Amino acid sequence: MNDTIIAFEKVSKTYRADGGLRALDDVDLEVGRGTRVAVMGQSGSGKSTLLNIACGLDEPTSGRVIFENLELAAMNDDDRTRLRREKIGMIFQTFNLLATLSAVENVSLPLRLGGISSAAALERSSAMLRRVGLQGRGGHRPDEMSGGERQRVAIARALVFNPPLLLADEPTGNLDSRTGDEILSLLDELHLELGTTIVLVTHNDEAAQHCERQIRLRDGRIVEDFQFQR
Ligand SMILES: Nc1ncnc2c1ncn2[C@@H]1O[C@H](COP(=O)(O)OP(=O)(O)OP(=O)(O)O)[C@@H](O)[C@H]1O
Ligand SMILES: [Mg+2]
Repeated sequence: MNDTIIAFEKVSKTYRADGGLRALDDVDLEVGRGTRVAVMGQSGSGKSTLLNIACGLDEPTSGRVIFENLELAAMNDDDRTRLRREKIGMIFQTFNLLATLSAVENVSLPLRLGGISSAAALERSSAMLRRVGLQGRGGHRPDEMSGGERQRVAIARALVFNPPLLLADEPTGNLDSRTGDEILSLLDELHLELGTTIVLVTHNDEAAQHCERQIRLRDGRIVEDFQFQR
């Protein structure tokens, strides 16, 4: 099977109009459906920029991003928002949970915004929280949970629509190594069970070993692209 879920074609990103720095520089990248890709590289090399552009949160200065054969820039805002909610799960390093909502309400949010009834959303969110090992914690607010638990809520929220693509920006960066390992094992399980394509930004070689393909960015360019034979 050689199906591409997302492709970057000559994507560049310049944050300053005065021809300053290129956060991404002429990036070509095809990610195969159902694969896992680790994105490595030093701080400032363009990893988060790559993820933000992949999900349409940010736009390339030049080049194109194609998701499931549709160009992101050609979609209207509503369609892009729906894509981000239902087809592309995002996990941020800082969790980005809403502090005033309980765990189950945080996980339900994308479903509710997607027009799913509160009873159905509650049921699906509770099932997803069970899936990430947080049964019984649904009523807790983020400040009543540990860092690892919060990250698992963020994973549950990112995956509650069962999106084909998951983008994770250093999901273990803020966790101790044991909790980080648990999160990586959880992502492995979800990948095996649901076939989710995963793009994992990480500074950590061990985390990258969970992926069969590893790319390295330097100054916005892909300088290594390594694939294990399976
Ligand atoms: N909103 C912004 N405005 C201006 N410059 C930015 C902006 N976001 C990122 N940059 C610059 O673009 C470059 C790439 O940033 P990016 O956040 O993608 O790096 P990164 O590889 O994710 O780094 P880290 O490992 O520290 O998270 C950096 O030089 C950064 O300063
Ligand atoms: Mg970053």
